[in-house]
Amino acid sequence: MSTALITGASAGIGATYARRLAARGYDLTIVARTTSKLEQLAAELTSAHGVKVEILTADLTDAAQLAKIADRLRTGAPIDLLINNAGDNLPGNFSTATSADLDWLIQLNITAPTLLASAAVAGMIERGQGSIVNVGSATGMMPEFFSGIYPATKAYILAFSQGLAAEVGPKGIYVQAVVPAATRTAIWDRSGVDVDNLPNVMEVDDLVDAALVGFDRKEAVTIPPLGDLSLWETYEAARHGMLPSISGTPAERYRKVA
Ligand SMILES: NC(=O)c1ccc[n+]([C@@H]2O[C@H](COP(=O)([O-])OP(=O)(O)OC[C@H]3O[C@@H](n4cnc5c(N)ncnc54)[C@H](OP(=O)(O)O)[C@@H]3O)[C@@H](O)[C@H]2O)c1
Repeated sequence: MSTALITGASAGIGATYARRLAARGYDLTIVARTTSKLEQLAAELTSAHGVKVEILTADLTDAAQLAKIADRLRTGAPIDLLINNAGDNLPGNFSTATSADLDWLIQLNITAPTLLASAAVAGMIERGQGSIVNVGSATGMMPEFFSGIYPATKAYILAFSQGLAAEVGPKGIYVQAVVPAATRTAIWDRSGVDVDNLPNVMEVDDLVDAALVGFDRKEAVTIPPLGDLSLWETYEAARHGMLPSISGTPAERYRKVA
C-alpha cells in the first residue's frame, strides 16, 4: 500500500487529489490549517475506500509548524508520493503589498514546498523510488499578464521541479510539475476575483484527472488545458537552444564603444 502526503488537502485541488488517490488505494497524510475540514474529508475517504488517513494540522507559513511536517516526511512511516499543493495569492499588486504579505506568500508558495521536498527526497533516494508533484501555475510562464509576485513564485515551482527532476530522476524519483490555468476553487474569492467572470475556467475534477493522466505517463510537466503540445515543446527547445550561447565573453552588443 502506497502513502501520499498532500498539502492544502482541505479544499480545492488538494482535496480532489485526496479523493482520487484514496480511490486508487493510497493511504493519505493530509495537511492544512483547518482541522475540521480535514477530519470531514478523512471520514469520507475512510468510509468510501477503506484507506488510512492521517491528519496533520499546520500553517505552512509558520517555521515551527512547517518543520513538524518536514519531520513527518523525514522520520515517520515512508511517504511514497508528496503532493506540494498548498498555495495562495494576495489581492492587489506588488506595490500595494506589505513586506509581511510578500514574506508570507514566499513562505507558502516557495519555502514550504522546497523544504518539504527536501525532507521527502532523502528517504526516497534511500528506497530508490518515490514521486514528488509540485503544483505551479500557468501564470508562472506569463508573469507580465498578472499582478503581484504570485506568478514569480509559480515560475520558481516550474524551475525547481525541472532542476530537481534532473538531479533525482536518475535515482528513481519521479518529479512532476502540474501547471494549472484558471480552475474553479475558492482561491479566487480570496484574490478578489469573481471566477464566474473569467473565460475558460476548468473544473477542479477535470484538472486533477488530467494531472493524474500526466502523472501516470510520468510527464515532467503537465499543462492540463494546453491542447497543442508542440507549443510547449517549441518553448522548451528554444530554452535549451540557448545553452551553448550563454557562457563565455560578453556578447558583441555589450562591448563598450570607445
Ligand atoms: N484555482 C486556480 O485557478 C489555480 C490555478 C493555478 C494554480 N493553482 C494552485 O493550486 C494550488 C491549490 O489551490 P486551490 O485553487 O485548490 O486553492 P484553495 O481551494 O483555496 O485551496 C488551498 C488549500 O491550501 C491550504 N492552505 C492555504 N494556506 C495554507 C497555509 N498557510 N498552510 C497550510 N495550508 C494552507 C488551504 O487549507 P486551509 O485554509 O485549511 O489551510 C486549502 O486546503 C495552489 O498552489 C494554487 O496556487 C490554482
